Amino acid sequence: MAEERGQTFSFARKFYGDQFFAKPRGADTYSDLTGRTFLVTGSNTGIGFALATHPARLQPAQLILAVRDLKKGEAAKESIVAQTGFKGALEALNVKRFAERANTTLERLDGANINAGVHTWSWAMTADGWGRMLQVNTLSTGLLALLLLPLLQATTALPSPHPDAASPPHLTITGSAGMLLANKGRYYNTKLFNWYLTREITNLPQAKGIAVKYIYTGFGVSSPS
Ligand SMILES: NC(=O)c1ccc[n+]([C@@H]2O[C@H](COP(=O)([O-])OP(=O)(O)OC[C@H]3O[C@@H](n4cnc5c(N)ncnc54)[C@H](OP(=O)(O)O)[C@@H]3O)[C@@H](O)[C@H]2O)c1
Repeated sequence: MAEERGQTFSFARKFYGDQFFAKPRGADTYSDLTGRTFLVTGSNTGIGFALATHPARLQPAQLILAVRDLKKGEAAKESIVAQTGFKGALEALNVKRFAERANTTLERLDGANINAGVHTWSWAMTADGWGRMLQVNTLSTGLLALLLLPLLQATTALPSPHPDAASPPHLTITGSAGMLLANKGRYYNTKLFNWYLTREITNLPQAKGIAVKYIYTGFGVSSPS
């Protein structure tokens, strides 16, 4: 009981602290992204849309919106161009087919934001026989991360487009402070699993030289309209 209260208190402290008092950190957020390539999954709406719009303002060479609904992806693309004046290559691609294509057609990948996720209160199973949230939030996230590692790794050996602003390729997984509530609901468990997933990926030899990160945003909404 006391342990449960402690867990809820840790979550509340973290959540309210981050939600109302945290300020964005990290000078490299504003690095020159010229010549670099980024991708964000689940970027047609929500946090993913915001995660794609921010780098668009910094004018990388290529930005890929990996989405499951191409129509929504195209709408997000138009909105990003209108908001940011992005002039590079901007593509909406089907997330399922993306990983195979990425490793054969992209020359470099400087940042992969694996963000797509789902939060429901009802139980549903996928055609593959997994709980839907577990498959979308954790298994697919891990699979895509592993499939993209070779390209991210290959990018570590390429010259930086800006030698004075060298930066390792980033692999970022969208988590949640809700992981502190693990065992209080399936969604929270999937986000704790993503924390472990991120740690395991960090320790892989193939992740050497790649900045692997678990991020959480606090509670937020955003949309292309
Ligand atoms: N919003 C928050 O306050 C908050 C807080 C903490 C963590 N997060 C995390 O942030 C991430 C984004 O959440 P959000 O709030 O921005 O949610 P959202 O607005 O519902 O967006 C979720 C995105 O994931 C995509 N997606 C869902 N199921 C998918 C599937 N089976 N295959 C491929 N793509 C799928 C959605 O595509 P469709 O549009 O086609 O459905 C959409 O692009 C999630 O990982 C979530 O756990 C959010």
